[in-house]
Amino acid sequence: MGAEMKVVGVIGAGQMGAGIAQLAAVSGADVWILDKDVGALKNAKMSIYDSVQRFVSKGQLDKEVGNNAIARLQYTSNLEDLRSADIVIEAIVENEDVKKKLFAELDKIVKGSAILASNTSSISITRLATSTNRPHQVIGMHFMNPPPIMKLVEIIRGADTSDETFNATKKLAERFGKIVVCSKDYSGFIVNRILMPMINEAFHALYTGVATKEDIDAGMKLGTNQPMGPLQLADFIGLDVCLSIMKVLQAGLGDIKYAPCPLLVQYVDAGRLGKKRGIGVYNYRKSPKL
Ligand SMILES: NC(=O)c1ccc[n+]([C@@H]2O[C@H](COP(=O)([O-])OP(=O)(O)OC[C@H]3O[C@@H](n4cnc5c(N)ncnc54)[C@H](O)[C@@H]3O)[C@@H](O)[C@H]2O)c1
Repeated sequence: MGAEMKVVGVIGAGQMGAGIAQLAAVSGADVWILDKDVGALKNAKMSIYDSVQRFVSKGQLDKEVGNNAIARLQYTSNLEDLRSADIVIEAIVENEDVKKKLFAELDKIVKGSAILASNTSSISITRLATSTNRPHQVIGMHFMNPPPIMKLVEIIRGADTSDETFNATKKLAERFGKIVVCSKDYSGFIVNRILMPMINEAFHALYTGVATKEDIDAGMKLGTNQPMGPLQLADFIGLDVCLSIMKVLQAGLGDIKYAPCPLLVQYVDAGRLGKKRGIGVYNYRKSPKL
C-alpha cells in the first residue's frame, strides 16, 4: 500500500512539517503542505529549497530528483485541497484539543481509504482517533528533528489502529529512507519515555549539587558515548518542551518517579527555555558566562 501513496498531505509547515513534506516529495509523492499561517508556508518553501540544494551540493541527492521534488510541492491554507491525499501527516501545535478538532474536520474531507497520521511527541493516538469515524486508520508517525537528517521514525499504534494501516505507514516511512520502530500508545512512546527521565535526572544531579553542569554533560558525553550531554540536549530541545513531556509522563503513567525536577520547573518559570531564548542551563548570549 505504501507504493500506492501517491499524494501526501502535511499539515503544519513549521520545523517538523516542512521537513516531512520535503521527505515525501523527494520520495516521489505529490505533496500538499498546509498551514493556517501564510508566513509559515513562505518560510517552509524557502527552507525546503535550501535544504534540497544542500543535499544536492553535498552529492547526497541527484539534482534532477531534487528539482522534481521541489516542483511536486504545493502550498495551501485550504483544507479542501487535501481531498486527494492518500495519507495526511499532521504536525501542528502540540495541543490535544486543536489536534482533535483538525482530525474531526479532516475525517469529513479526505477519502474513506486515507490514513490520518500525527507527528505528536506526546499526545495519545487513541484519544486523537476518537475524534474521527476511522480509528483503525489513525496512527502516530513520530519523526525526529530535523526530519530530513534523523534516521528514526517511531510508529505508534493506537488501541484500534489496524495492521493494514500500520503496514502501509511503515512502508511509507521506509520509502522516506527511515528506520522504523513500533511503539504501543503509552505516554512518551519509546524515545521520550527513556530520554526525558534521563534529562530530568541530570537536572536532579545539578539541583542537588552532585556536579557542575559541565561535568554532568562531559560525564555522560564521554562516559556513555553520546554526541552531547543531557543538559545541553535539554537546551537544544527547549526546557519548556522537556517540562511538558515530563508532565505528560507523570500524568499518563501515574508514577511519582516522573515528577519534573524543581530546577527544571524554575528555569522554565524564569523564561530560561534553552537555546531558542539564548539562555537555558547554559548561556548562549554574548554576555558573561553563567
Ligand atoms: N520540534 C521538535 O523537535 C519535534 C520533534 C518531534 C515531534 N514534534 C511534534 O511535531 C509537531 C509540530 O512541531 P513543530 O516543532 O514543527 O512546531 P512549529 O511551531 O514549528 O510548527 C507548527 C505549525 O503548525 C501551524 N498550525 C498550528 N495550528 C494549526 C492548525 N490548526 N491548522 C494548520 N496549521 C496550524 C503553525 O502555524 C505552525 O506553522 C508537534 O506536535 C510537536 O510535538 C516536534
